[in-house]
Amino acid sequence: MTQEPGGFFRSARVLIIALIVVIIVPGLALILSAISSSMTPANTTSAGLSETRRENVLIGSTNECVDCHANTTPGIVEQYGHSTMAAANVTCNDCHVVAADYPDAIAHEGTYVLNSPTTAMCQRCHAAEVAQFYASRHSLPAYVAMTGTDGVAELSPEHLAMYEAIPEAELGPIQARSVLFDIEGEAITRFACQTCHNIGRPRADNSVGECQQCHLRHEFSLEQVRKPETCNACHIGPDHPQWEIYQESPHGIAYATGGDSWHWEAEPGTLTVTDFPAPTCATCHFSGFGASGTTHDVGDRLTWYLFAPVSERRPVWQDNRVRMQNVCRECHNERFIAEFYQAADEGTEAINVLVRQGNGLMTELRDEGLLTTAPFDQPIDFESYELWHHWGRTAKFGMWMQGPDYTQWHGAYEMLHSLAELETMAEELRSGEGNVTRPQTEAERALPPHAIDPIIATPSAPVATPEVGAMITPEVTDAGG
Ligand code: HEC
Ligand code: HEC
Ligand code: HEC
Ligand code: HEC
Ligand code: HEC
Ligand code: HEC
Ligand code: HEC
Ligand code: HEC
Repeated sequence: MTQEPGGFFRSARVLIIALIVVIIVPGLALILSAISSSMTPANTTSAGLSETRRENVLIGSTNECVDCHANTTPGIVEQYGHSTMAAANVTCNDCHVVAADYPDAIAHEGTYVLNSPTTAMCQRCHAAEVAQFYASRHSLPAYVAMTGTDGVAELSPEHLAMYEAIPEAELGPIQARSVLFDIEGEAITRFACQTCHNIGRPRADNSVGECQQCHLRHEFSLEQVRKPETCNACHIGPDHPQWEIYQESPHGIAYATGGDSWHWEAEPGTLTVTDFPAPTCATCHFSGFGASGTTHDVGDRLTWYLFAPVSERRPVWQDNRVRMQNVCRECHNERFIAEFYQAADEGTEAINVLVRQGNGLMTELRDEGLLTTAPFDQPIDFESYELWHHWGRTAKFGMWMQGPDYTQWHGAYEMLHSLAELETMAEELRSGEGNVTRPQTEAERALPPHAIDPIIATPSAPVATPEVGAMITPEVTDAGG
């Protein structure tokens, strides 16, 4: 073995570093913690949480689930111990324990439990929140967006009745649903579409949805659910970049730079500008703020169907507008809000015009017999889809939620580019070039014939609804209102 040169100095250096670590670092840490605790106002939670986190009320609990699970799944007991529900004496049993014959019940330690407690369990104590959630597009419409309503085993007759009673479910989701779900197949979509859209999953006991998609178990913390990162689990990416838009908005900047001192745990329904000097997603879409009450019906404050290719007004949109503007009014004056809404309405209509241009070209090509009836099989299908589904939506979301870069460079500019591409592709189809289709996927081939019209229909077979943008019918896109 060769002795390394400089071995002595190296070990001396190690010793000095060790001394620094042992003596100076803890000293500094003490000083820093003294400073920070003197600076942290009571009742606020910083990102660190530890100093003001509620105490664990389950320490020493005699509940038998807690007793055993403190060893088998200590993380769950730790999380739940800090929740306000545990402090209010809501027990593991309240959400998990059911009768032996309850759908999906499993025998467990002398009782029957649900592995995944359903919305029906929450409903026993939170009837108002559940009723509002059921009236929203976070409920069944989110699921139907993948599966449609026809012949889906998960949808019981009770579910269908619930779905049909949602006023805002009516905008043709059956025609508009994305058939990519069938083309890609379950092996893929369970990690994709379903992860987000299961927020409105029908459950075996006829209840609907997964509250825990937003209220992460088992802490069920208000701080967590009010922070915009909660929504970013799903409201992200090229087709609905609300999270990215929020980050570049003045509201998001206020959150990122000052959010540490906001009152994240303030009692619902009592929030004021003292608690939240600027809004998060939750403030505008959920919280009781100013004259608007807390709601789980996220459609309750919206005036347009912005997600649609061509946006239309919602039912009772004028009432909805009042409820959203009540929130703005706590921080902005009347004229500012009115002018903003007028400009954003005009912007929305300008995007509609661009989408209609693309749709018009597709209709011409279809009339000329140059498009197949199968969706997403020709390159032009993808281009016309991205025109509205990615760029058109993004432009609108950017306008309404203060994201200029998204409205411009990921929105309007991309739309112009897509329109040029569509023209080029149309030329190629008309000249007999560019007649390319993608191979069918295994998932498509496995589908029973004619189970899903737009996919299975052969070019000669009559198609129930003509397709525009490979996904939505012109009737639906352009229906009045
Ligand atoms: C004597 C110990 C013990 C008791 C008492 C106990 N559990 Fe469990 N529980 C376990 C073990 C062990 C598992 C399996 C953990 C694993 O698979 O990692 C488990 C699993 C579970 C699961 C998941 C079931 C599944 O199949 O995925 C749930 C839910 C659950 N327990 C809830 C409860 C509730 C509620 C109570 C009180 C009514 C309770 N447990 C009482 C030990 C216990
Ligand atoms: C307020 C309702 C509620 C309470 C109270 C509750 N849970 Fe849960 N629990 C849930 C929900 C919701 C899930 C999530 C299921 C899913 O993701 O599909 C869950 C999942 C679980 C699971 C299985 C999933 C996993 O991560 O292993 C176990 C085990 C469990 N809970 C144990 C407990 C124990 C032990 C307690 C008491 C200390 C408790 N729960 C209290 C609602 C509750
Ligand atoms: C047995 C009744 C009961 C059940 C079942 C129940 N809760 Fe609660 N929940 C309560 C009570 C009581 C509170 C009030 C705690 C407080 O404000 O101090 C509460 C508070 C909450 C809060 C607000 C937390 C806060 O800090 O104010 C959320 C979120 C919540 N529950 C979600 C759920 C969800 C989701 C389910 C179903 C998975 C559920 N609860 C099931 C009784 C229940
Ligand atoms: C687990 C995924 C998921 C999470 C988390 C989530 N959403 Fe959604 N959200 C969806 C889906 C899916 C839709 C579309 C439903 C549809 O129209 O089919 C949606 C739609 C919406 C809509 C439009 C509703 C309408 O009537 O068109 C709003 C507003 C909204 N979400 C706000 C939020 C806010 C705010 C948060 C965070 C507090 C949030 N969402 C968290 C999945 C999610
Ligand atoms: C990252 C989460 C996420 C994934 C993955 C995802 N979606 Fe969505 N989807 C959303 C959100 C959020 C909205 C709501 C957009 C809005 O309202 O602005 C939405 C909207 C929709 C809509 C329009 C609303 C409606 O009900 O008509 C359809 C259709 C849809 N998604 C289908 C799908 C399909 C099919 C897949 C998989 C091929 C998929 N989505 C993958 C989150 C997701
Ligand atoms: C899309 C995200 C999302 C989903 C899904 C969701 N919540 Fe909430 N929930 C929130 C937000 C955000 C708040 C905080 C509102 C506020 O700022 O006061 C909240 C607050 C609550 C509260 C406290 C409200 C109060 O007035 O005391 C309860 C209880 C609750 N949710 C229950 C539920 C139940 C039950 C479900 C399932 C039906 C559910 N939530 C589904 C986002 C969600
Ligand atoms: C300053 C308030 C405000 C904030 C903050 C905000 N939004 Fe919005 N949001 C709006 C307004 C206003 C609209 C358009 C309403 C309309 O249609 O009249 C909108 C539209 C939406 C839509 C479109 C629904 C549709 O028709 O397709 C979704 C989804 C959404 N917001 C989710 C979010 C998410 C997620 C966040 C946080 C990352 C967020 N919002 C932050 C005010 C806000
Ligand atoms: C809790 C307070 C609060 C609420 C509620 C609120 N905002 Fe803001 N808003 C702010 C702050 C703070 C700024 C940053 C001001 C600045 O740019 O100097 C801002 C900035 C804006 C701007 C950008 C102004 C500019 O000069 O670029 C617009 C547009 C806007 N808000 C619209 C809305 C709308 C629409 C609503 C309701 C849907 C709303 N805000 C709700 C606090 C709020």
